[in-house]
Amino acid sequence: MWFRTQPRRACPATLALCLRFLMHGTAAAVMDACLSSEQRSQHLQEAPCTPDGCSAPEGAPREEDTGGPPGGSNKIEPSLHSLQQFVPTDYESYTQEHYLFAGTKIVIQESIESYGAVVWPGATALCQYLEEHSEELNLQDAKILEIGAGPGLVSIVASILGAQVTATDLPDVLGNLQYNLLKNTLKRTAHLPEVRELVWGESLEQRFPRSSFHYDYVLASDVVYHHYFLDKLLATMAHLCQPGTVLLWANKFRFSTDYEFLDKFKQVFDTTLLAEFPEASVKIFQGILKWD
Ligand SMILES: C[S@@+](CC[C@H](N)C(=O)[O-])C[C@H]1O[C@@H](n2cnc3c(N)ncnc32)[C@H](O)[C@@H]1O
Repeated sequence: MWFRTQPRRACPATLALCLRFLMHGTAAAVMDACLSSEQRSQHLQEAPCTPDGCSAPEGAPREEDTGGPPGGSNKIEPSLHSLQQFVPTDYESYTQEHYLFAGTKIVIQESIESYGAVVWPGATALCQYLEEHSEELNLQDAKILEIGAGPGLVSIVASILGAQVTATDLPDVLGNLQYNLLKNTLKRTAHLPEVRELVWGESLEQRFPRSSFHYDYVLASDVVYHHYFLDKLLATMAHLCQPGTVLLWANKFRFSTDYEFLDKFKQVFDTTLLAEFPEASVKIFQGILKWD
């Protein structure tokens, strides 16, 4: 699901409250209540897989606003700035959040203006799972692809744990994703993570041919929520998995539609519940594609 602020200024506190409510509260319907009627119709009509892109307004946040690169390297600033294509139009919505995983301080640039620019509960749960099980998962040099990577926390943690990561998402959020990945992995990881566009269900065989791409793990956090692309999402998950691939899917379960997706998921994947975080209503599943 994708929404974008209108030129008319919205109260950042209200937006933040709405998004927090969505992430940690109950229903996507609440989002409609949070949006103006103009925004609401756009939200309902706009296909998340075909955004027409955000133009980057002038006045992008400067490095000094971001607290500086966590790795302490100043040499990367120009490239980071040029990569930062996603820029919030409401600067009060722009924020930096700090995380600690795998003994590493991670700083993520977030904005409440996009679902894909905020770290969701499934991501922190999956990061915790990865750091606690990194040896048994054999993450060192493992080939990993993340779908719907958003601001990139999971891909960053997987990279810090030694994996070769490709982080994917819709085109609009790739600039912010690349910025966060570089900022947190440059000179810190054996393998620099890559960023690629991957729109669920679109040109999969052309862009990710099964003959040339094989992943040890496919990661997904909070990709199941109130949107219209659940069938394409499941097809994408199946396309990316081959014999030997393990899909790790973390999700906050809120709605009956989440459980309906889980039922379909179980038809396609041999499914194991790996972990539960009841306080956040997050479950982590392992899926191995069924080969009939
Ligand atoms: C709720 S956010 C979760 C972000 C991140 N995985 C996390 O847990 O913090 C859902 C993500 O899926 C992406 N997404 C939504 N629809 C998509 C589509 N049709 N194709 C590819 N990515 C999509 C969004 O851009 C966003 O990054």
